Amino acid sequence: MHAAILPTAGRNVVVVGTQWGDEGKGKIVDWLTDHAQGVVRFQGGHNAGHTLVIAGRKTALQLIPSGVMRAGVACYIGNGVVVDPAHLLQEIERIEQLGIDVRSRLFVSEACPLILPFHVEMDRAREALRESSGSGKIGTTGKGIGPAYEDKVARRALRVQDLKHPQRFEDKLRELVELHNAELTGVLQAAPLAWQPMLDAAMAAAEQIRPLMADVGYRLFQAHGAGANLLFEGAQGTLLDIDHGTYPYVTSSNCVAGNAAAGAGIGPGLLHYILGITKAYTTRVGAGPFPTELPMDVAGTVGHHLSTVGQERGTVTGRARRCGWLDAAALKRSMIINGISGLCITKLDVLDGLPEINICTGYELGASRLDILPLDADEIAACKPVYETLPGWSETTAGLTNWEQLPLNARRYLERMQALIGAPIDMVSTGPDRVHTILLRHPFRA
Ligand code: GDP
Ligand code: IMO
Ligand code: MG
Repeated sequence: MHAAILPTAGRNVVVVGTQWGDEGKGKIVDWLTDHAQGVVRFQGGHNAGHTLVIAGRKTALQLIPSGVMRAGVACYIGNGVVVDPAHLLQEIERIEQLGIDVRSRLFVSEACPLILPFHVEMDRAREALRESSGSGKIGTTGKGIGPAYEDKVARRALRVQDLKHPQRFEDKLRELVELHNAELTGVLQAAPLAWQPMLDAAMAAAEQIRPLMADVGYRLFQAHGAGANLLFEGAQGTLLDIDHGTYPYVTSSNCVAGNAAAGAGIGPGLLHYILGITKAYTTRVGAGPFPTELPMDVAGTVGHHLSTVGQERGTVTGRARRCGWLDAAALKRSMIINGISGLCITKLDVLDGLPEINICTGYELGASRLDILPLDADEIAACKPVYETLPGWSETTAGLTNWEQLPLNARRYLERMQALIGAPIDMVSTGPDRVHTILLRHPFRA
C-alpha cells in the first residue's frame, strides 16, 4: 500500500562541511553527481567557493551547484540561498564559455532573497568600522551575505519573484535604499546610493533571470517521486553556522544538514544520507577562535607545510587560510548537529611526509577537561587543545584510489579519526581531481 504511493522514489544525499568551510565539498559533490539527476544549493550565496578539477582542468563555482559539470544534471538554487542577480548572470556566462549548457537545466527559486549593491556596501563598511573602532573584523567575504539575510529576516527583502513585477520592485527598492542610506551615511560614514541605477540593472537582469525562475520545492518533490536521486550541496561549514558555529564569527545562514529541507522546500524525511566532508587537518578563513591553529610563517614547520602543500588560499577572496591539526572534539559537535551518516576525509595526501600527526581529542579550559567544542566563542578562544600523537608516513598517497594501497599509518590515522568522531569513513580523497577518490561505501547505495 505505502510502496504504491511512491513506487520509484529516488534516494537523496546531503553533503555538508563539518569544519570551517573549504573541506572539498565541491570536488565530492561533482564526483557524486555521477549518481544524481539533480543538485541543490540550499543556503549561503556566492561567498562559497567550490573548486572542481576534471581531467586536470580547474573550475571554481560560487553560486551554481557543483552538478553543472555533468551534462544533463539539473541544478537547483533553493529558497534558502541569497542571490546576487549580477553575479548569477556572470557565473552563468563564465560556465557557458566553457561550452557547457547551463540555462536549460538551472532552476532558481522565486523565493530567494536578492543581494543588492547596498548589501555589499554595508557589509564592507561595517567591516571597516569594526576594524577602525577596535572591535575586530569578522573577516567576511564582502559579498553582502549578512545584510541580505538581515533583510530577509526583517521581512522586507526583495526576492527573485519581485523581478517579475517592475512597479512592485521599484516601490520596495526605493524604501530599502532610503532605509539603508540612513545607515550608510549616518553610521558607517559611507556615500549614499542612488536607487535608479539599481532598478535599471535589476530590470535588465530580470529579462535573463525570468526564464530560470521556478517553484523549486515542487520540482524537487516531483523529481524525487519520478525516481531521481537528488544531492543537496552545503556551502560553508558547520562551525560557521549562524546558530551552531563560533558566533559571532560565523556566516549568516544555517549550514547544517537539517537546513537542506527548509532551504530547498522539501520535507526532512526526504534526506536519506548525510555525508560530512572533513579535511584531514583543519583550516579557517577570516577571524574567530581556532584551538588547533598552528603558526604558518616559518618554513619547515607543520603549519607552513599544511598551508603550502595544501595550497590553502581562499577561492573567493584569495586570502591565506589559517591552518592547524585535526580537531576531533569540534568534529564531534558537527557529527551530532548534522546527524552524519558517513564521512569523506579529504586532502589526506597533504599529510604525506609528516613524521608525526596530532589529533585534538579535547580541551583544557581552566581546571576543566572538555571532550567537545564549547558553544561560547570566548570559551573556545581560551581552550587549550589536548593532543594524541600518531606516527606519520613517508610514502605518497596522492592520487590513490584504493584503501589497500594506503600506507599502514595512513589507515591507522583514518581509523583513529573514525573512532574519535564516532562516524564511519565512507570515502577518502587523495587529490583535487575527480578521479583521486577512494570509495568504501557509496552514499547513494548505503
Ligand atoms: P569547498 O569550498 O568545500 O568546495 O572547498 P574548496 O574548493 O574551497 O577548497 C578545497 C581545495 O582543495 C580545492 O582547491 C580543491 O581542488 C582541493 N582539494 C579537494 N580535495 C583534495 C584532496 O583530496 N587533495 C588535495 N591535495 N586537494 C584537494
Ligand atoms: P565554502 O562554501 C570558508 C567565512 C568568511 C568569514 C565568515 C562570514 O567555500 O566552504 P560571510 O561573507 O559569509 O558573511 O563571511 O564566513 N566564509 C567562508 N569560509 N569557506 C566558505 O565557503 C565561506 N563562506 C564564508 O571567511 O569568516
Ligand atoms: Mg570553498
